[in-house]
Amino acid sequence: MCGIVGYAGEQTSKDVLDVLLDGLSGLEYRGYDSAGVAVANSSLDVYKREGDLSTLEESLPEQPPNGFAGIGHTRWSTHGPPSDANAHPHTDCDDRIAVAHNGIIDNDQELRDALEADGHVFESETDTEVIPHLVESAIDQGADVETAFRRAIDRLEGSYAVIAVRSGSEALYAARHHSPLIIGIDGDDYYLASDVSAFLGYTEDVIYLEDGQFATVRPAGVEVTDERGALVETSVETVDWDPEDAGKSGYDHYMLKEIHEQPHALRECLRGRPQGLENAVLLEAVADVTEPKRVHFVACGTSYHASLYGARLVRERGIPATAFLASEYDSDVIPIDGDTLVVGVTQSGETADTMSALRDANGAGGTTLTVTNVVGSSAARESDHVMYIRAGPEIGVAATKTFASQQIALAMLSSALTDDCSQEFVDALRALPDQVQSVLDDSRARAIAGEYVDSDAYFFIGRGYCAPVAREGALKMKEITYKHAEGFPAGELKHGPLALVTDRTPVFAVVNRESNPEKMIGNVKEVESRGAPVIAVTDTPEAVRNHADHVLGVPDTHWRFTPVLANVQLQLASYWVANRLGRSIDKPRNLAKSVTVE
Ligand code: M6R
Repeated sequence: MCGIVGYAGEQTSKDVLDVLLDGLSGLEYRGYDSAGVAVANSSLDVYKREGDLSTLEESLPEQPPNGFAGIGHTRWSTHGPPSDANAHPHTDCDDRIAVAHNGIIDNDQELRDALEADGHVFESETDTEVIPHLVESAIDQGADVETAFRRAIDRLEGSYAVIAVRSGSEALYAARHHSPLIIGIDGDDYYLASDVSAFLGYTEDVIYLEDGQFATVRPAGVEVTDERGALVETSVETVDWDPEDAGKSGYDHYMLKEIHEQPHALRECLRGRPQGLENAVLLEAVADVTEPKRVHFVACGTSYHASLYGARLVRERGIPATAFLASEYDSDVIPIDGDTLVVGVTQSGETADTMSALRDANGAGGTTLTVTNVVGSSAARESDHVMYIRAGPEIGVAATKTFASQQIALAMLSSALTDDCSQEFVDALRALPDQVQSVLDDSRARAIAGEYVDSDAYFFIGRGYCAPVAREGALKMKEITYKHAEGFPAGELKHGPLALVTDRTPVFAVVNRESNPEKMIGNVKEVESRGAPVIAVTDTPEAVRNHADHVLGVPDTHWRFTPVLANVQLQLASYWVANRLGRSIDKPRNLAKSVTVE
């Protein structure tokens, strides 16, 4: 996920570039593929590089000039691959205005077309670059820089935290909408950042900007205004975080932070894709893919569970589809031809087993599509088509928000591939981010998990669309608690696993009112009568309450999306068991975030 920092201070107090580089290093934990800074003095010095901070530092002149103010950025690519040109900050035609931006501008193409028609020349593929040109255009029409900045922001649609700086000026101009931006204050020194980890070494006094607010920051002070330009009274708060913890935004673990980032991740994944009015899902990735005769999903671990869910969706819409474990995929025994769409689902885009399956499919003449989180990853580069899930960087080894984003990405893919979409489906998709938020806000998983920390093993059952999420619940539980856990379609219980069920093996039952609830309740009774504690995760509490020790509710949604919500409860349950056991949650033993060996 991108990170922003800005600094405007007394000119005698600190070296602007040093403060910016410090800030960027505080943002590194978010993950990034390029970095850059712009320092304003009588002109504007911009340094930016693809790669990590050390690459940027090596590119700096031996004695870079100090300045009046500056901005910096760590970029996680969305529009255009990682490159020096696509790195922020971006500038206008005359290099007078530099801008750093987090978020996505939905109407960038329209703005770019208009600006190009007016003679503006673009140097990058990013959506961000429209901003400095919009500011430039307003200045050329006679506006002062502050007004020009406001006019530029007013034309943006999408999400943004933006900071701009102008040559010859000691001011920073900032605005936010659906992307965080915080002002740090230390006497006459002011900082701006997307999260406090960028300036915690300097100050703990902050002002949190709200959506729709603008700020002008100078060594002489800060002015915050609302959308109409009226002054806003702000309060300075103290952040009582250890700088060490700031990377986790106050959460004890990245995993918990990433679980809580899911509403945002889902919004990003959905942005610009479901089209309510036309009852359609627009996916550039498959715009020129003709409807395949069959779809093969290839993936590992959590991504395989998302694929099981995706394959069911595609099958239901009439195209034969199968999810394969990538390590078991072999074109010698699985027929592939030009009518076969092979979808590699991989958060990292680097998993060796998945890469190998995709290469096998390419070699056998299949059409390949990668669904991934990482722009420019190997899988993205080597496939015929690519769809990004836009979940932002995931640092915890346990996949959480990327799984949620994969699920809805595949739901959209199933719809786009088959042109099968209803208003109900689109509305339900769009409601998911808020519904995930409500699960996070109201979950009782922590208290319930506390009761079962000493259990011998954990079972997870579900039917239909809820079976993949039962498997995923078990994977999460085993990888971070180091306890035995198994997840399977509930009908399989009586064919073996029931022998292991005792009063020391809690069973998490995902019950969806549309996926055979009567049979599911029959399965719940099977384990109940063996003394197993039952935790029902359900959209239909009344149906199951009499047979469950606990109910973890999820809001009503389109029945295909119940597992997306149920999974959040399962993630939290695993997290809190592991937390009580004092496990190394973010880096479980023996596991790696990106598995690059077969
Ligand atoms: O990067 P990928 O999605 O290809 O990774 C595949 C698996 O290694 C991964 O999903 C793994 O199972 C999870 N980290 C488990 O939480």
